Amino acid sequence: MTETSTTSPIGRDTPRVDGPRKVTGLAQYTSDFLFPGMLYGVPVEATIANGKLLALDTVAAEKMPGVRAVFHRANIGRIFRSTPAPGFDRVCEERRPPFEDDVIQYYGQYIALAVADTFEAAKAAADAVRATYAKEKSNVEARLEAGHDPDVVFTTYGPVPREQSKRGDPEGAFASAPVKLDETYVTPAETHNPLELHATTAIWDGTMLTLYDSTQGVVNARSVLAQMFGLPKENVRVISKFLGSGFGGKLYPWTHVPLAAAAARQLGKPVKLVVSRKMMFQSVGHRARTQQRMRLGATREGKLVSLMHDYVYHMSMLGDYHEDCGEATPFHYSVPNLRASFGRARRNIGATADMRGPGAVPGLYATESAMNELADNLKMDPVQLRLLNEPRLDESNGLLFSSRHYVECLNVGAEKFGWAKRNPAIGSMKRDGLTLGWGMAGAAWIAGRFEAAANVQLRDDGTVRVACATQDIGTGTYTILAQLASEKTGVPLDNIEVELGDSALPDGPISGGSLATSSVIPAVFKAADQAIASLLIIAVTTPGSPFLGHKPDDLALEGGRIFVKAEGPGKGVPFGDLLRRANARLVTGSGSAEMTAFAPNPKFSKHSFGCHFVEVTWQAEIARLRVSRVVTVMDAGRILNPLTGRNQIQGAVVMGIGMALFEETIYDPQNGAPINSNLADYMVTVNADAPPIDVTFLDYPDKEINELGARGIGEIGLAGIAAAITDAVHHATGVRVRELPVRIENLLV
Ligand code: MOS
Repeated sequence: MTETSTTSPIGRDTPRVDGPRKVTGLAQYTSDFLFPGMLYGVPVEATIANGKLLALDTVAAEKMPGVRAVFHRANIGRIFRSTPAPGFDRVCEERRPPFEDDVIQYYGQYIALAVADTFEAAKAAADAVRATYAKEKSNVEARLEAGHDPDVVFTTYGPVPREQSKRGDPEGAFASAPVKLDETYVTPAETHNPLELHATTAIWDGTMLTLYDSTQGVVNARSVLAQMFGLPKENVRVISKFLGSGFGGKLYPWTHVPLAAAAARQLGKPVKLVVSRKMMFQSVGHRARTQQRMRLGATREGKLVSLMHDYVYHMSMLGDYHEDCGEATPFHYSVPNLRASFGRARRNIGATADMRGPGAVPGLYATESAMNELADNLKMDPVQLRLLNEPRLDESNGLLFSSRHYVECLNVGAEKFGWAKRNPAIGSMKRDGLTLGWGMAGAAWIAGRFEAAANVQLRDDGTVRVACATQDIGTGTYTILAQLASEKTGVPLDNIEVELGDSALPDGPISGGSLATSSVIPAVFKAADQAIASLLIIAVTTPGSPFLGHKPDDLALEGGRIFVKAEGPGKGVPFGDLLRRANARLVTGSGSAEMTAFAPNPKFSKHSFGCHFVEVTWQAEIARLRVSRVVTVMDAGRILNPLTGRNQIQGAVVMGIGMALFEETIYDPQNGAPINSNLADYMVTVNADAPPIDVTFLDYPDKEINELGARGIGEIGLAGIAAAITDAVHHATGVRVRELPVRIENLLV
């Protein structure tokens, strides 16, 4: 299925080109950068979740040794509001600039910033600031009631009506369905916990602002910060060379970024601000708590006749983030009568935001759990139920799928897992004295492209440089860009330099939506084609060139050598030799490609698909539950680098175990604080919790996405896994847990 040559790096297991830099410590993460005269900022956090800031006493803090300033509303200087723009420019989930007014909307909101010569001095000063509040009751209680429901929500992806998808008569069809399911599923607030804390260092040089920032989107961050400081975009530069991941929390700038920039402006020195782990739970976004009512109606044979997915999510008082749980609902299964709708509950909490597989991940937990429960009610195998309801096209819009191999995912997964040996009776399967539970679920995720531009240089030493203002958030983008440049030029990866993570480079996509790979392919290919075209002109015009007398069209570049097509590559000349003969250091090419994700009138319905099969072991005597085995099959287009791709899916499955069994941000009803705001009390999956994870890629190219047919992977690995795990828990224990995470207490029945 590949059209590339046998030496092509595309589709090969390719170790990360930045691996040596990472393991030797040469890779500089944002907070590793040091600058002469650099100061350290530590924010002061509000200790109420709702009310007014009446007074700040900064006198003691200002007198402490090494303290340069304590900033607050009266002395921080002007910070403007960043306003929304069409598309993926100027995206920001907390648009109220820091210190804009005295109103406190959530616990941990920044109310002051101490800046000092050392981090320790700044922290001591921040701790010494005293605040007086007029405290009002906060509303962080868990039960969600819809109540703040505009008819349309304007999201980054376009407008979403409250009734986001509807066909047929879902209520009527449900009422008359012979087999029904009506259950509500709850997912908790989850907090992004990348190892690397959010960090930013701001440097002013006259009216030029440079930010070293831990961001998943340097281009967007530049736009947001330019607006916040009233500058043209050209006067802001954002650099993000290495990220210790982000999981969506670092997609868009948070309020500590303008705070660092404003402090640097006031003091005329670089200011570094690293957010604490506690602040990571308060002021840099989280996944919304959701409550999703699922109603499924089916015939006795298992054909779906009605599907209603009505959900409510929580959000901050000022934010506008839409947790799109209904993202995959309208197209995943064939059903003539369907509704997906949402409501919103405003709470005194920090802004909600994208978190790995936003919307679809909590959404598929509900829809796939409901499918499993319906299968149970029908006494039907859950794989069989899905096969029975496979759609021929996207029934929400009548479009054909660009590439959908969900049925093959299910069949391959079942085969690899050994699903045929499943005895559906609860607690009936045993091994080594443990009760086994087997469960499964399906997955889906968006596909498409963001706008992207890139630049490719071919240089006289035979090396290639590829540049794009996208980022590598740990997923392997450095490697993908090198593979793409190598594919086009035939130059080995060792001789390719990749530049990314700098807004001064050609505008690249955010590292989000698992779309960075699919987005950069056409831009890099066009840039390489343009550079090669320049090279071939030089080949036919340079005095002494063996190609004088030929037309550029007669020539080609392969394996790093220019040759006459009619003669084959045997007599080729390395392009570096030719450039040296022409006394040209380099040729350069630029390329760009438009956004296709979220296009208003697409020709095809474009998504990735997949499924998970999970085994848990249950030891009732000591209430010990373990995920012991996972088989995952992904239909995510052509996989450019199976090594890093597999790693992405395994990582997502590990995170899904956390979603199913561990992760939950708990709010204190007294003061509205996330109380488990540290890595001891907020549990995530650790190595000992991670089972063998067998990942298979179907590897069908999706040519509607780009010329290589790559859709991109990462987030889809988290989609559906929690439903598969809770299904396995039910199979082992007989307990259906519909509120995540599954607790041992739930199983002691
Ligand atoms: Mo992903 S939540 O789009 O970083």
